[in-house]
Amino acid sequence: MSEATADPRPRSSTFRRAEPVLRVERLNHWYGDTDETRKQVLFDNELQVACGEIVIMTGPSGSGKTTLLSLLGALRTVQEGEIEVLGQPLHRLRGRQLVQVRRDIGFIFQAHNLFGSLTALQNVSMALELKENDRTRIHNRAVEVLASLGLLERIHYKPARLSGGQRQRVAIARALANRPKLILADEPTAALDEQSGREVVNLLKKLANEEGCTSLIVTHDNRILDVADRIVGMANGRIKSNVLLQRAIEICEFLKQSETFAHLSTSTLTNIAEAMETESHPSGSIVIRRGDEGEKFYIIKSGEVDIITPRVDGSEAKVATLHKGQYFGEASLMTGEPRNATAIARQDVELYTLDKPNFQAAIASSEPFRKELEKILFQRQ
Ligand SMILES: Nc1ncnc2c1ncn2[C@@H]1O[C@H](COP(=O)(O)OP(=O)(O)O)[C@@H](O)[C@H]1O
Ligand SMILES: [Mg+2]
Repeated sequence: MSEATADPRPRSSTFRRAEPVLRVERLNHWYGDTDETRKQVLFDNELQVACGEIVIMTGPSGSGKTTLLSLLGALRTVQEGEIEVLGQPLHRLRGRQLVQVRRDIGFIFQAHNLFGSLTALQNVSMALELKENDRTRIHNRAVEVLASLGLLERIHYKPARLSGGQRQRVAIARALANRPKLILADEPTAALDEQSGREVVNLLKKLANEEGCTSLIVTHDNRILDVADRIVGMANGRIKSNVLLQRAIEICEFLKQSETFAHLSTSTLTNIAEAMETESHPSGSIVIRRGDEGEKFYIIKSGEVDIITPRVDGSEAKVATLHKGQYFGEASLMTGEPRNATAIARQDVELYTLDKPNFQAAIASSEPFRKELEKILFQRQ
């Protein structure tokens, strides 16, 4: 092991995060305008969704999903808290400004609100007229999007002559016609058979991949869970769980490779993965510094980290180089002592982090996890 002649003044660490398309902070909402009828239905909600994510939202009836969706879609005025959608602060906007934001959003609602006197083609064209004047372009796009949902033969039918599933697909065609940057869907596949439901979610997936379109879908349909990037669970007006699936799977895979975590139950692993965040640190930067208070636990997603401790004579020595899948920073979280080593990014590194409260909750929820870490700590000392 080569000795570390650590850069005396390493660059400070930085965070990099994708800008969210949707940001909700401290969101509360009430219905009713008199003291007797006033009832709080959303409580202190936080949510961030990145560009191109497909988010599936679940939760019992009455838990506030539709209310949250209608606030995100600028269909209701924010009463308390903040919502930013497509760069617009909805909590500061009123009336016409909110209408403007709605034009960039595709809505697919349970009650599909089609105009009974208009054909499928006319229903879809109406949405396009909000943004486009050219009749030919409107017609071509309306036909194209209806065809992509398997309705080419039905474009001149009025809603009464369409089946429930077909009507729902017209509503979806209308929502997608303007190539919205954000799609808000409330039970979009509820009225569809399995095959049609699959076609709809495949289309959303395609839009996400090709156009970076973000979708938030309220559903109880567990047949479509596989398209989700993130699953958000609501109960009693609160977001109770928020799991970034691919990341959770990746973290679980990492954790399972290590002896410490391998035997944990999937639900414990998922709880840990759910609470983890991602950080990037450039090559040469200090991730943790000896003597500092411990605030986080780290797992290496990519890159390498050097662990440096002082020798008896006071000089510093590299004691380990950690790689992808290995972790550090647990000691001071467990003992409450200051950091006993410095960790420096050897290359640009990406790290999964678990903050102290979540780390302690994970330990508390898992006897084997705690025992394993205690054993490791004991061996290291
Ligand atoms: N327009 C409204 N006026 C008063 N209460 C409402 C209204 N809409 C919904 N609620 C109430 O708000 C709560 C959340 O409803 P909702 O957002 O529709 O939940 P979900 O979509 O999860 O079923 C429920 O208790 C519901 O009864
Ligand atoms: Mg609802």
